[in-house]
Amino acid sequence: MALFGSKKTENGPEGSLLPAHVGIIMDGNGRWAKKRGLPRKAGHVEGAKTFRKITRYCSEIGIKYLTVYAFSTENWKRPADEVGALMKLFKSYLEEAITDFKDDDIVVRFIGDKSGFSRELRELMDENEECSRDREGMVLNIAMNYGSRDEIIRAVKTISRKVRDGELSEDDITEALISDCLYTAGQPDPDLIIRPSGEYRISNFMLWQSAYTEFVIMNKLWPDFKTSDMDEALRVYAQRNRRYGGV
Ligand code: IPE
Ligand code: IPE
Ligand code: MG
Repeated sequence: MALFGSKKTENGPEGSLLPAHVGIIMDGNGRWAKKRGLPRKAGHVEGAKTFRKITRYCSEIGIKYLTVYAFSTENWKRPADEVGALMKLFKSYLEEAITDFKDDDIVVRFIGDKSGFSRELRELMDENEECSRDREGMVLNIAMNYGSRDEIIRAVKTISRKVRDGELSEDDITEALISDCLYTAGQPDPDLIIRPSGEYRISNFMLWQSAYTEFVIMNKLWPDFKTSDMDEALRVYAQRNRRYGGV
């Protein structure tokens, strides 16, 4: 692929220069709206459009797993009208995605605590997972009511129950077991996490999974993020030298 130029580095899985798993912290919607004198929710509407565009693009260029951070366990702190606007956007996206992603061959999965959402949203999430389950293309994890600390607590509880019930011994507790108890069980760790909006923080996203992830911070607000910005992040990633603690 011309995108990655001629520089050869052993980078992603099996030396591939294209990351198998990309995470995106879709940030900056509020600032995008503020800059235009619009209510924050207008930024979320634009951000949702960017999400659709970038998801399709990632699937087209051969990304195998894409995890997008859409709503954190901490985002409930926001004003009720903003949270309400986000729930409305989720609903319209979920209704549309049932038919939309069919042609794109995308497997839709939700990571996070679904029990925090209304019954209507939960059913739509289940329906999206159900109808896309047998597709063979990119896996799209949508992180909603997701917090990595919450995810780790759940894993610890699952494991401690099993130890208590004698299904596991202490020696069975390995990195692989913990990974298997997370929402992303069975998936490779993210190779690359992109954060638009210029913030240098992880905000409770994939803490366990990102032990050796490459981070690319971009000075673009999410609604302004283009496929060319995705190319740029992939180019930066392809030049990184991943050492995993070695030399
Ligand atoms: C990300 O954009 C969307 C969500 C967190 C739901 P923000 O709403 O955080 O936008 P900024 O960071 O305030 O600009
Ligand atoms: C992280 O963004 C969560 C999502 C993008 C969904 P935030 O805007 O909530 O993170 P902070 O508050 O800037 O750390
Ligand atoms: Mg933000």
